[in-house]
Amino acid sequence: MQDFEIILPKKDFGITEKEFDMWADKAMDARRTLLRGDGKGNDFLGWLDLPAATGTIESMKTAAQCIKSSSQLLVVVGIGGSYLGARAVIEAMQSELQCLDNTRETPLVIYAGHTLSEDYYVQLLKILDIYDYSVAVISKSGTTTEPAIAFRLIKSHLEKKYGKSEARERIFAITDAKKGALHDIAEMEGYCSYVIPDDVGGRFSVLTPVGLLPIAAAGLDIEQLMAGAAAMRDVCLSDGSVGENPALLYAAMRNMLYASGKKIEMLVNFLPSLRYISEWWKQLFGESEGKENKGILPHSLSFTTDLHSMGQYVQQGERHIFETLISVGKSRSHVEIPADDRDLDKLNYLISKSLTQVNHCAELGTVIAHKNGGVPIIEIRIPEISEYTIGQLIYFFEFACGVSGYMLGVNPFDQPGVEAYKKNMFALLGKPGFEDLRENLISK
Ligand code: PA5
Repeated sequence: MQDFEIILPKKDFGITEKEFDMWADKAMDARRTLLRGDGKGNDFLGWLDLPAATGTIESMKTAAQCIKSSSQLLVVVGIGGSYLGARAVIEAMQSELQCLDNTRETPLVIYAGHTLSEDYYVQLLKILDIYDYSVAVISKSGTTTEPAIAFRLIKSHLEKKYGKSEARERIFAITDAKKGALHDIAEMEGYCSYVIPDDVGGRFSVLTPVGLLPIAAAGLDIEQLMAGAAAMRDVCLSDGSVGENPALLYAAMRNMLYASGKKIEMLVNFLPSLRYISEWWKQLFGESEGKENKGILPHSLSFTTDLHSMGQYVQQGERHIFETLISVGKSRSHVEIPADDRDLDKLNYLISKSLTQVNHCAELGTVIAHKNGGVPIIEIRIPEISEYTIGQLIYFFEFACGVSGYMLGVNPFDQPGVEAYKKNMFALLGKPGFEDLRENLISK
């Protein structure tokens, strides 16, 4: 495995080895439960072995090639676990300015089905008038309202633009093997379809076609992504000590901090391209642990941007937070600060320093300041952003999440609370079967 390091805030916060060992033992117990497969939610453990199941890679590459050859845009229709993983990987590798890069040789991936904003869809449909596009419609249940509405709108646009037959060639459905409205539509219309395994929940599905198809279509190397995940899987599954397993160290430390009153975990980075890694991580941990009136609140900040909005709070606000920093060793590109004869901006002291050097000083300065301000920081160090290291990160967080959820005593693989708003929305919209609830809501 390439360098992947985790640094725990033991010394800075006076945590003794003996104290930590108690939490390390709990993490080890939770790992045993996870790997024995006899804990809560054990019918959703398929994600554990996804990096070893590389059988889908070739078909994903073929589908991606087909999208690349016909389309300038790929619209990924999905919400929650059915889009965040793909977006996290794609945006980590390609900056937000990608959309303005005319030299791009691969389709730009854009998103739908993750919002009900009318303005968004009006603008999207206008854009789809201009560019050639394909659609990846993704829903495990095949019945989620937001992507279903988006797909109805986009399918109708696609069929008008290209005719029914060509539209069919441009739609790729990723859903359940046997059931759900999307499964039925795909079968009846004859779309190219891929399956989300039964035993893989939405937020753990990035290494299935859910993530792999859009990531491959964006021109990224899914073999390297899977290789990174596989390397981390080897580490997590091997029978070493807690100290040899970064996911166990992370799970142990975050649970220890939670028990000491640190109820909020900020995932922080110094690269805006990692923003959607944070969004994916928030769903992973928020949906897995936030239940039974328990769970660390997962929050995220992108520095240095957010130091200018939330830095004050982190430094001096209520001391109920800890940070988990994704620290990246080197940049994939290089730009030096140029000389200026007049030096009116007083920046000549930085001449020939790269932006990454400046960013690293900002990072070190922030780490020291936040530690001094009483914020424990778990540091995750990766050498660079690449498909391989992102694959490592994904499996690391997923494994840590399973372990951490069991340490907390909850089922990390269900999400019963997500249904509450849906039922009320259906009732308010007048969906058949929800009449009683509608009366109840209206009478309030
Ligand atoms: O993690 C989850 O299960 C959820 O966030 C789902 O991914 C999300 O609700 C989308 O569900 P579906 O893929 O069934 O449309």
